[in-house]
Amino acid sequence: MIYAHRGASKLAPENTMPAYDLASESGADGLEIDVQLTKDNIPVLIHDENVRRTTNGTGFVQDYTYDQLRLLDAGSWFSSKFSDCSIVTLDYFLRWFKNRSMQLNVELKTNVIHYNNIEAIVYDQLNYHQMLDRTVISSFNVASVEKITAIDSNVQTAFLTSIKRKHLPKYAYDHGASSLHVKYRMLDKALVKQCHHHRMPLRIYTVNRPSWMTKCFKLGCDGIFTDVPHEAVEQRDLFES
Ligand code: G3P
Ligand code: MG
Repeated sequence: MIYAHRGASKLAPENTMPAYDLASESGADGLEIDVQLTKDNIPVLIHDENVRRTTNGTGFVQDYTYDQLRLLDAGSWFSSKFSDCSIVTLDYFLRWFKNRSMQLNVELKTNVIHYNNIEAIVYDQLNYHQMLDRTVISSFNVASVEKITAIDSNVQTAFLTSIKRKHLPKYAYDHGASSLHVKYRMLDKALVKQCHHHRMPLRIYTVNRPSWMTKCFKLGCDGIFTDVPHEAVEQRDLFES
C-alpha cells in the first residue's frame, strides 16, 4: 500500500489541505498525518513541535491556543502560491477525510514532548468519526503505543523506529503494536521475513526514489510512505505489469 507522507508533500506544503487534496487525487491507498497538541488540548496537524520551520511564526505548538495557531501562514515557506494555508485541526481533517476511501495513518508526535492525554483525545476523535477500522495509530514512543492498546486492543497500532535492534517485531508486539514502521535503511530480507513470521505488517518510510520503491515492492513490504505518491503509484503499476 502506498501512503502519502504528510500528504503529497513534495508538491504542496506538508500537512496542509492542498497536500492532502493532491494525495487523495494521486491514487495512493492511504495518507499519513502528524499530530501535536495545542495549549488548549486541540490535536493539530504539524510535523514539528516548533512552528518555526513550516510557518511564519516562532515557538512551540503547545504554547499556542488553536485560535492563535490558525492565524499563522503555513504555506509561504514552501511557495507564495500557498500563502493562505493554515494549520488544521484533526477534527477538521477527519470531516474532510471520512468521505474518501483511503486508509489513514495518524502519527502521534510524542517522541520529544509528551502531551498529556494525547492518546485518548486522538482516539476519541477517530472513534467519533468512525475511522478506527481504517486507521493505524503510530508513534516512535512505545508508551503512546501501549496507551492506545490499553484504550482499545482492537485498534491497529504501529511502533515507529529508525534504530536497529534484535527481534524488532517481537519488541513491537510486546509493547502492544500490531505493525512496524521503519526507516528505509533498516529494510532487508531478514526483517521482512521476521515480520511476516509474526504476521506483523511492515511499512517503510520515507521512500521517494524509484529504486527504493522497487526494492520495497520486491521484498514484499506491506506499505511505503512517500512524499511523491503520484510517482509511487506509477512505479507500482510498472512493477506489477
Ligand atoms: O510515519 C512515518 C514517518 O512519518 C515517520 O517520520 O519524521 O517523517 O514523521 P517523520
Ligand atoms: Mg510522520
